[in-house]
Amino acid sequence: MDKETLNAPSPVPESATIAPPKITSDIVRADFNDVRTVIHYARAAHFLGLWKSEKILIDRYFPDRQARLLEAGCGAGRVAVGLWHAGYHHVVAFDFAAEMIGQAENLAQEQGITRLTFLQADATNLCGAADSSAGKDNGPHLDGTGPASPGKCHLLYDTFDGALFLFNGLMQIPGRESRRTALRELHRVCRPDAPFIFTTHDRDDPADVKQWAKEAELWARGAQDPRLHEFGDRYFSDETGNTFMHLPDRKEVLEDMAATGWTHVENATRNELASETPRVRNFSDNCRFWVARKAEAGA
Ligand SMILES: C[S@@+](CC[C@H](N)C(=O)[O-])C[C@H]1O[C@@H](n2cnc3c(N)ncnc32)[C@H](O)[C@@H]1O
Repeated sequence: MDKETLNAPSPVPESATIAPPKITSDIVRADFNDVRTVIHYARAAHFLGLWKSEKILIDRYFPDRQARLLEAGCGAGRVAVGLWHAGYHHVVAFDFAAEMIGQAENLAQEQGITRLTFLQADATNLCGAADSSAGKDNGPHLDGTGPASPGKCHLLYDTFDGALFLFNGLMQIPGRESRRTALRELHRVCRPDAPFIFTTHDRDDPADVKQWAKEAELWARGAQDPRLHEFGDRYFSDETGNTFMHLPDRKEVLEDMAATGWTHVENATRNELASETPRVRNFSDNCRFWVARKAEAGA
């Protein structure tokens, strides 16, 4: 998605005589199961792999290749498969969209990768995780629960040495309280002091002040897209399907980390971290990386 699309005021649907329902996680999941969206992320998984900026932070915070990593919102496997090739072989990756998980599994299989675990799970309820590889010989689970059995909670307390939610998946959860629930869930399954890396799009980018001022005016008059939950939300369509995205400001991200037991470590934009290839820049805009650590006591 390009920057103009992300920051343009949300149009109110013309046909809306009765207020349309708010965007729910079911709608977001259906959007990610849409064939156009699946193809978009499958292409990225096949042709892009890990970005330079991602590699820099992953190397910095996970120098030990034996680290047990949890990747949230793995999509079609771009990051999980990239992690494997970078030498991380203890990775559990999950996504709530079944079509994405199917693509991720196919990609891993095509590349002869046998011990990446993919789960279908919602970040806001990790105990509901169902292992899509049930019945296949994917090796033991990282938390020692043995081979998959459907419906069993595989994601236990303190299992992981770190978590990743890359390319803005956290911000595709509608509603601030639900995003905090996801942050608490990731906190629960990580060991104390574990790093957590995620990305957002900046709402407080000086270049976008005018667009957001227009959007604020709509909200002040109650004339915003009624499907949105909060100021900063976007819902738009393009050739890759429908996208829900919340754009937070800095204060909000720091508050949400603190409220869910994460200590802020550092943040930087992708462009500050690395000069990405034209392919990566065409695929996605600049974004901000946030690094947090699990504080000793959970919130
Ligand atoms: C922008 S895509 C990024 C996919 C992949 N990480 C990548 O970089 O190519 C965001 C992913 O997060 C997933 N996602 C969004 N909300 C989720 C939730 N509540 N639980 C699990 N996955 C979620 C979507 O299904 C989607 O695959």
